[in-house]
Amino acid sequence: MVKGWRQRRGGGGETARTPTGGEVLAIVSGKGGVGKTNLAVNLGIQLSRYGSRVVLLDADFGLANADILLNLSPLGDVSDLLDGRYSLDDLLVDGPEGLRVVCGVSGFTRNGDPCDFDASACLRALRRLDGACDVVLIDCPAGVAPPVAACALSADRLIVVTTPEPTALADAYATLKMLYRGGFCGRAGVIVNMVRSRDEARSAWGRLQRAAERFLGLSLEDLGQVPLDRHVVKAVRERVPVVVRYPHCSASSCISDICRRIAPPAVAGGRPAGLWTRVASVFL
Ligand SMILES: Nc1ncnc2c1ncn2[C@@H]1O[C@H](COP(=O)(O)OP(=O)(O)OP(=O)(O)O)[C@@H](O)[C@H]1O
Ligand SMILES: [Mg+2]
Repeated sequence: MVKGWRQRRGGGGETARTPTGGEVLAIVSGKGGVGKTNLAVNLGIQLSRYGSRVVLLDADFGLANADILLNLSPLGDVSDLLDGRYSLDDLLVDGPEGLRVVCGVSGFTRNGDPCDFDASACLRALRRLDGACDVVLIDCPAGVAPPVAACALSADRLIVVTTPEPTALADAYATLKMLYRGGFCGRAGVIVNMVRSRDEARSAWGRLQRAAERFLGLSLEDLGQVPLDRHVVKAVRERVPVVVRYPHCSASSCISDICRRIAPPAVAGGRPAGLWTRVASVFL
């Protein structure tokens, strides 16, 4: 087990879920720059459109940029929450179409090390969201530094983002291996981003799935693919999420398809409770 990590659930099974329980999804990757933040932002907006109350936590505790993509001007970031400078209500920023965002930290260093950030304290502070959202998307930095591990271990589900490149696939596999060996035992699904064809996506997913099954005994979900689409790049430059700016482009329609696969089942007879209690219980 990786130092500082704790086994969250026994026996490799799924989390015990209450019928109205919300879901924490951690978006991770091995290689950087594969499109996690773009996916987190756009999946969050699309899930909101489908009726879920979504909070996006930008867990990049050093080089955050969800706020840049969304053109937000937050009052502060998670470090202010931890310092007690601002409350969670102050820091939850309204993004497009009902998405709410807790912005990450740009340039924050403690002891000069951007990785030395107390992710567990941050997640504990976010307990106040309990019962106030259906889905929490955690946009993690690339790799498996301790803050990423802390966020991933708090999640019900991992969404591993990769491109079809062999280097990205190898790093995605290494990340999965580290997270499962470190104690994660929830579900994991894969999104293959920046693909040139469906076949390319299918083949990339197959390679990762076969390796995970053979060497880790894991069954990965195929959550879908997003094409290499110039509209995504244009939307980034315009600082408007692609599903808002170009809702009919091929990337946006693939993001909608992915949302249908990851959207929580309709919440009947009440709102989820206990979400952040479960998140924080990892650390308490
Ligand atoms: N489907 C796509 N088609 C074309 N370009 C894309 C696509 N997805 C992402 N990009 C480009 O890749 C860049 C990097 O994306 P993003 O910042 O979301 O990656 P990331 O995985 O969050 O990076 P980091 O690891 O640094 O946090 C974007 O600015 C965008 O230009
Ligand atoms: Mg990012």
